[in-house]
Amino acid sequence: MDHYCVLGNPVQHSKSPAIHARFAELTGQAMDYGRLLVPLDGFSGALRHWMAGGARGCNVTVPFKFEAFRLADSASERAQLAQAANTLKFAGGRVEADNTDGIGLVNDIQVNAGISLAGRDILLLGAGGAAAGVLGPLLAARPRRLVLANRTHDKAVALVARHAGHPSLQHLLQKTELLAQAPQGLRADFDVIVNATASSLSGGEVPVDARALKPGALAYDMMYGAAAQGFAGWARAHGAVPRDGLGMLVEQAAESFLFWRGVRPPSAQVLHELREALA
Ligand code: ATR
Repeated sequence: MDHYCVLGNPVQHSKSPAIHARFAELTGQAMDYGRLLVPLDGFSGALRHWMAGGARGCNVTVPFKFEAFRLADSASERAQLAQAANTLKFAGGRVEADNTDGIGLVNDIQVNAGISLAGRDILLLGAGGAAAGVLGPLLAARPRRLVLANRTHDKAVALVARHAGHPSLQHLLQKTELLAQAPQGLRADFDVIVNATASSLSGGEVPVDARALKPGALAYDMMYGAAAQGFAGWARAHGAVPRDGLGMLVEQAAESFLFWRGVRPPSAQVLHELREALA
């Protein structure tokens, strides 16, 4: 039996244990998956302890994704772009880092929701860890325009500059216009808006003018459950189609599972089951 877990703080409400248990069951993998509440100043010690016990890997969630990236011996290109890791694999005493959040988002939009991002105009709201984790994979989906808008504009400018200067993205940037714009007064029509801000957690307003939405646009919130309801209501009221982040959660888990086990689990089935269970 191989051991995995999710390390975070808080972590008690994480759905990752249930998702990975179902993946393992459906693919016949001999593994278990738990959750570990880590003190805010205790991540490196908790990680060393988890490795020393013979575990094969782990997921990492808030607020440890940046520290996980810094502690790793090697990192995938997408983790380097995000400067954050949500997935660690242990091999021969070394730690390999990956970040599957962005590909999870892209797969949920393109595969589960059936909306191709190629040639589209995308607005990404936020410039914190959640936005950093998805910017590179959104670029790789080859949109026509990818605009980053954040309350603190300088952070959006810095995140765009980091990606615009990255050698591995130059071929993508020939086809996609990548820029930072202030969220106030955005009037351009966007096909897809992705909310990667924490505004709904603090009960805040949707941090962009509804004029940014094209009729029938996809309005995607990385949150799910009660936290996503304000954004979904705003989207519906302005003629957009809301989608919450439950599919992203399942798809990032599926990519982690693939990274660890070399097997792609039936993520669409598990997403369907999870939606039924939550309904
Ligand atoms: P995470 O790792 O979840 O991205 P974070 O790094 O704290 O968390 O980033 C939170 C993001 O949500 C930031 O883009 C933040 O904007 P600022 O950079 O201006 O702080 C954004 N955010 C949080 N509350 C917000 C609100 N009420 N309105 C608009 N944006 C908000």
